[in-house]
Amino acid sequence: MGVPIIIDCDPGHDDALAIMLAAGDPAVDLLAVTTVAGNQTLEKTTLNARRVCTVAGIRDVPIAAGCDRPLVEPLRVAGDVHGESGLDGPDFGAPEVDVVPEHAVELMYRILTEHPEPVTLVPTAPLTNVALLLTRYPDVVPRIREIVLMGGSTERGNTTPAAEFNVCVDPEAADIVFRSGVPLTMCGLNVTHQALATPDVVARFTGLDTPLGRTCAELMTFFGGTYRRLFGFRAPPLHDPVAVARVIDPEIVHCTEAHVAVELHGRHTRGATVVDLHGTLGRPANARVALTLDQDLFWDRLVAAVERLGRDRS
Ligand code: RIB
Ligand code: CA
Repeated sequence: MGVPIIIDCDPGHDDALAIMLAAGDPAVDLLAVTTVAGNQTLEKTTLNARRVCTVAGIRDVPIAAGCDRPLVEPLRVAGDVHGESGLDGPDFGAPEVDVVPEHAVELMYRILTEHPEPVTLVPTAPLTNVALLLTRYPDVVPRIREIVLMGGSTERGNTTPAAEFNVCVDPEAADIVFRSGVPLTMCGLNVTHQALATPDVVARFTGLDTPLGRTCAELMTFFGGTYRRLFGFRAPPLHDPVAVARVIDPEIVHCTEAHVAVELHGRHTRGATVVDLHGTLGRPANARVALTLDQDLFWDRLVAAVERLGRDRS
């Protein structure tokens, strides 16, 4: 059995591929998918998680909806990046997978307390659910093997010049998580911008010649259009699967230890992750910070996962 994980996400084109990587790679055991407001409203991100699990044939993994707004900030969504549905591009049809009635935080807590070994949390969205879990159930901390998140950046942001989207949407939640003392790995924009879905990469998914491979290609094509228009990227960065890849094989994502603080008060910098890569502040490291991606290993694992899922579906 692989490393047990829970993905907390806001599908979201890249979240969709993260779910598929987690479900399709035998190195991890996907125990649950929980959703949160972020790329789109909670209603839409939850519907999208159901859509992704339907097309990928993921039917034995519980999906639970979580928080519909950040802890303090009003919700801001990313319809300009992910479209009105939050997963524009493919025609998904009606979902065949439903949600469980539990709130995401309650499902996470139940799994963490019942699973025979500590579980890795992989948040690829604003950290509202995870912050609420740690605040409401501090006794669960020993049951968390590690938090491996997509969020923040050692450099610039993408939502403000200083702040990356997942942290910017809910800075208070991110602050709680980074100060929690739980073993933490941060996969920020500095590393996820190395995961560019170039035309050659997209062709590998099309070349699988399966409905799921084509759906992935359509997701990346839509995502590529918005990233070209909004950010001038030649290809879209698939942020979220990088966090899953780190759990699958730490050799895919190389990290260093550093102190990371979330800026809450800066007039121009609120939501920034201040990463002290050179220890100038003299504070103990509270995170592993991802710096480099082995792109060949990354894409090989992601294509293989989609191929495995698509084969099971065909
Ligand atoms: O900044 C990128 C992150 O924000 C990704 O997780 C993307 O899905 C959005 O949630
Ligand atoms: Ca996301």
